[in-house]
Amino acid sequence: MLAVASHRSHNSLVMVASMTLTAVVGLVLVACSSSTTPDSASNASVRASPSASALASAPPTPTAPAFDRTLLSLDDPNSLWVISNKHRPLNPVDFAPTDLSMPVGVPNEFTQPLREAAARAVETMYTDAVAQGVNFGIISAYRDYGTQVSLYSRYVARDGQEAADTYSARPGHSEHQTGLAVDFDDGGACYLNACFESTAAGQWLAANAADYGFVLRYPNGQDAITGFTYEPWHFRYVGVGAAQALRDSGTLTLEQFFGLEPAPGYL
Ligand code: DAL
Ligand code: ZN
Repeated sequence: MLAVASHRSHNSLVMVASMTLTAVVGLVLVACSSSTTPDSASNASVRASPSASALASAPPTPTAPAFDRTLLSLDDPNSLWVISNKHRPLNPVDFAPTDLSMPVGVPNEFTQPLREAAARAVETMYTDAVAQGVNFGIISAYRDYGTQVSLYSRYVARDGQEAADTYSARPGHSEHQTGLAVDFDDGGACYLNACFESTAAGQWLAANAADYGFVLRYPNGQDAITGFTYEPWHFRYVGVGAAQALRDSGTLTLEQFFGLEPAPGYL
């Protein structure tokens, strides 16, 4: 009795499994046909006798959808994609973010915060770099409007305005004022110098920053687009998706990535 019951129950299971399999196969077929032939009735004859060319053609290869470069605002200073350059002052010019947060556990020369998302990303990036034997610290992160006023006027007094404009943003135009930009240093001889690109830290950041949401904002030889000379130490947080999409597209500047006009000089 027990054996019969067990046998019956086994048969029932086999039936259920087979019915389920049939149903699943049916569903998959329906799903496939509806996704490839939206109007199945009118295409029935085509499917019944496929032409030689249809048989020879390869099945469509699924491709990842292109990264949507219109997801966030480029104008709103609160947006993680806000673009400030010599043609695009922040609006208002004395904008200040409301979610500033101090990165924890990262050397930070002037103890400057970053916006929340950028601060957390720097912490993770720093931890991973150190685990791989690479060390660096923050020179500059968020600078408010007043700080940029005094910094820029100090550079103008030292080098003249024409020269200062090649490397220091006028107040209201600096990415540092967005709370999304950070300058790094490795404690060596290339402090805010182009030779930072050859240091272990500079190389690691150039190769890996995108995986943490940062892009090298002022690449070498792109002055005519970005308006600023090469800064291998200056990284801008835009989020992992945008940073990786920019890197994978081979695009060098945020202006090109977002289809903005070059901004070589102030308007
Ligand atoms: N050095 C960059 C351009 C700034 O001043 O924001
Ligand atoms: Zn900077």
